[in-house]
Amino acid sequence: MSRPPLRNRLLAGALLGALGFSCTPPEEPFPNDAELEQLRTMHTPVSRPPVDATNQYGDDPRAAALGDRLFDDQQLSSCGTVSCRSCHAEESGTVDTPKAEGCGGQLTGRNPPSVLNTGYSTWFMWDGRADRLWNQALLPLLSSVEMASTPTILRNRLSAGYAAEYEALFGQHPSLESDDELLANFGKTMAAYQRTLNRNDSPFDADIIRFIAAVEEGKEEEDPAYLGLKTFFRKGKCIACHKGAMLSDDMFHNIGVKDTSEGAPGVLAAGGPLLDWSFNALGPHSDRNNGTEAGRLQRLGSDLTAKAAELKGAFKTPTLRNVALTGPYMHTGDVATLADVVELYNKGGEPEGSFAGVVSETITPLDLTDEEKQALVKLLESMTGAH
Ligand code: HEC
Ligand code: HEC
Repeated sequence: MSRPPLRNRLLAGALLGALGFSCTPPEEPFPNDAELEQLRTMHTPVSRPPVDATNQYGDDPRAAALGDRLFDDQQLSSCGTVSCRSCHAEESGTVDTPKAEGCGGQLTGRNPPSVLNTGYSTWFMWDGRADRLWNQALLPLLSSVEMASTPTILRNRLSAGYAAEYEALFGQHPSLESDDELLANFGKTMAAYQRTLNRNDSPFDADIIRFIAAVEEGKEEEDPAYLGLKTFFRKGKCIACHKGAMLSDDMFHNIGVKDTSEGAPGVLAAGGPLLDWSFNALGPHSDRNNGTEAGRLQRLGSDLTAKAAELKGAFKTPTLRNVALTGPYMHTGDVATLADVVELYNKGGEPEGSFAGVVSETITPLDLTDEEKQALVKLLESMTGAH
């Protein structure tokens, strides 16, 4: 099976144009060869996230089992009522409200992203202020708005409820561990657990596989996924950022989500503290801190100066996998439905943008038809994975 050469398909288009069927230059048939290559990278990813060398416990089932229990433990919070699960529910990995409630009913500053498929990410939090899944876990634990915990509360709880499991894994009774070591090890069990929370294998994957086969037979236009995919690639330009198996470039962009909070303006503010953080991938608690993991942080460091204007108000491109389960949307949680998300992109973002930063070049009004908007929403809805 091989698809008709692009040249012939272009010629057919040109011929139709010449015969007076169209006054505008013929559109290149979708997908062209480069787009077809991209399509091939977008379906069912490997079943386990890539290894994180900075966490030697990342794929240890004992660490995942301990992490699973700790994820649900409200006694880790100073108020005794909030666990990770309070804000990252079983089915969706998040909550269905714009913000979530921590200790004392305090509201989080941003919308909780889903913890499903987080093992595939390389930056964590909307503004990227954690560079590993294991060090991310320290932030909600210690945040005064979320679990408002302390190393002492953690030590007491681990000693009372999990001492044998902890000691078997880390070779030390929790009561004898230093604060920092205890925090890092806690984070490593959280990461090990969350690395098992993957929901892939969606109707979208089956559609992509079928669509590629249709392209090879020259029948792509008859495929039910044609309009949605074509709009995702062409008029919608979604593919510029939502690419690869996780449908994310794992980079930061200001797409013009209105944000009037007093919060810090995205990665531009978060990047510096991350580079100085003793729990980052290069710090003493990383299991591979010999420099081989330095590249990404060094690049961030130079981007923060070289691309400062662009990174103001820039937030992480989230995965689109399971997106139908995770509304409301965006770092603010102010965009209620997927149809609203498409409308936001269609108008080229809010004029103010995030913190009045420079809105990404690719974000411009799209002029989508109702049919194209519906096809995009349907495509997004198809990305929900089986358990
Ligand atoms: C009170 C609600 C709340 C609690 C409790 C909470 N989280 Fe979150 N979580 C959030 C919010 C809000 C964000 C986004 C914060 C931001 O980007 O500023 C988030 C982000 C995350 C992310 C980053 C996901 C991504 O794609 O960037 C992970 C992973 C995560 N939380 C795991 C945990 C773990 C593990 C715990 C328990 C130790 C926990 N959370 C406790 C609300 C909560
Ligand atoms: C320039 C890069 C870029 C382009 C182009 C882009 N996105 Fe996004 N997308 C992002 C970023 C960054 C966010 C998060 C923005 C924020 O919260 O401030 C996002 C958020 C989303 C969300 C919300 C997900 C969630 O979990 O809250 C959806 C859905 C989405 N995009 C779909 C699309 C669709 C459909 C298109 C094409 C019409 C598109 N994106 C084009 C970068 C992009």
